Amino acid sequence: MFSEKSNIAFIGAGKIAFSLVSALLKAGYNVTSIISRNKNSAKKLAGKFKVPDYSNNLKFLTNETKIFFLTVPDSQIKKTAKEISKLDLDFKGSLFIHVSGALDISELKSLKKKKAHTGSFHIMQTFPSTKIVDIKNCSVAIEAEKKVAKDFLNKLALDLKLKPFYLRSDKKIYYHLAGVLASNFLVGNLFSAEKMFRLTKPKKVDFFSVVNSTVNSTLDNIRNVGPAKALSGPVERGDYETIEKHLKALKGKDKLLFLNYLIQSLYLLEVTGIKNGKLNKEHKKIHKILVKEFNLLKKL
Ligand SMILES: NC(=O)c1ccc[n+]([C@@H]2O[C@H](COP(=O)([O-])OP(=O)(O)OC[C@H]3O[C@@H](n4cnc5c(N)ncnc54)[C@H](OP(=O)(O)O)[C@@H]3O)[C@@H](O)[C@H]2O)c1
Repeated sequence: MFSEKSNIAFIGAGKIAFSLVSALLKAGYNVTSIISRNKNSAKKLAGKFKVPDYSNNLKFLTNETKIFFLTVPDSQIKKTAKEISKLDLDFKGSLFIHVSGALDISELKSLKKKKAHTGSFHIMQTFPSTKIVDIKNCSVAIEAEKKVAKDFLNKLALDLKLKPFYLRSDKKIYYHLAGVLASNFLVGNLFSAEKMFRLTKPKKVDFFSVVNSTVNSTLDNIRNVGPAKALSGPVERGDYETIEKHLKALKGKDKLLFLNYLIQSLYLLEVTGIKNGKLNKEHKKIHKILVKEFNLLKKL
C-alpha cells in the first residue's frame, strides 16, 4: 500500500511538475522516476533534482512505484491513464493522482477498474513556466473516493504546507471557474488596461507604476469587505456620460474590447445592485445604453 515512504513517479515533465517535484523532495518524499512524451523534457526535470530514472516510455514504470502523479495536459489525462492501465503492473495498493482543476477523478476510472486508488490534487496557484513557484500556503482542492486516499492526500498537503479542502466531483467545475475568473480574467483585464494606457503614448512612464496602488488597494478592499462592497467607478456611481465616452472611444478601435466592456459593465450593474440593494435611475440609464449597443452589435 502507498505511504509517504513510497516511490513516486511523475508522468509529464512540464510547468507544474518542476514545482511539485521540488516541493515533494524538500518535504522528504521519494520522487524516483520521471516520464514524459519527450525524453529531453524528462531528462531536464530528472537532472535538475537528481531524480535517478527518466524515460519517454510508460513501460518504464515498475511495481516499485506506488504513487503516480499525472502532470500531463488535461486533454491527455484520460488517455495516459488508459495506457497505464494496460501495463502489466500490480495496481492494488497504488495511488494515481492528477492535478487538474477542471477535470474530476472520473478521468482515472480505467485505473480504478484495475483496483488502483485515485485522487485529484489541484493547487490554486499559477505555474506559468518551469521556474519553481513556492507553493507554501496555497490552497489545494482534494478529491478522492476512498478514505485511505483522502487521508493520504490530506497529509501530503500538510507536509507541503498547503491548505487542503475537499471537493465534490460534481461541483468541481464551479471551483475551476472561480479560479479562472479570479486569475486568468484578471490577467486579461490588466492586458487590456495596459493596451489602453499605451494609447496615451506615455513618455517613460511605466504602466504598472501608474496602476500599482489602485490594483493593490482594490485587492485589499476585496479581502476586507468582499468583492461587491469593494466596487467603485463609473458604473457604480451611475456616471452614464462617462460610460458613453468610453464606448465611443472603444467603438471602431477594438471590437473585442468593446464587446468585453459591454458585458463586464452589465455584470458590474448586477454587482452594484448587490452592493446598494437596488439600482437608481442613472444605473437604469446605463443599462439602457449598454443594451442598445448590444442590440446594434447583434444586427451587424
Ligand atoms: N500551469 C498551471 O498554472 C497549472 C496550475 C494548476 C494545475 N495545472 C494542471 O497541471 C497539469 C499539467 O499542466 P502544465 O501547465 O504543467 O502543462 P505543461 O507545461 O504543458 O506540461 C505537461 C507536460 O506533459 C507532457 N506530455 C504531454 N502529453 C503527454 C503524454 N501523452 N504522455 C506523457 N507526457 C506528456 C509534455 O511533455 P513533453 O515536454 O515531453 O512533450 C509536457 O511537458 C494539467 O492537468 C493542468 O490542469 C496547471
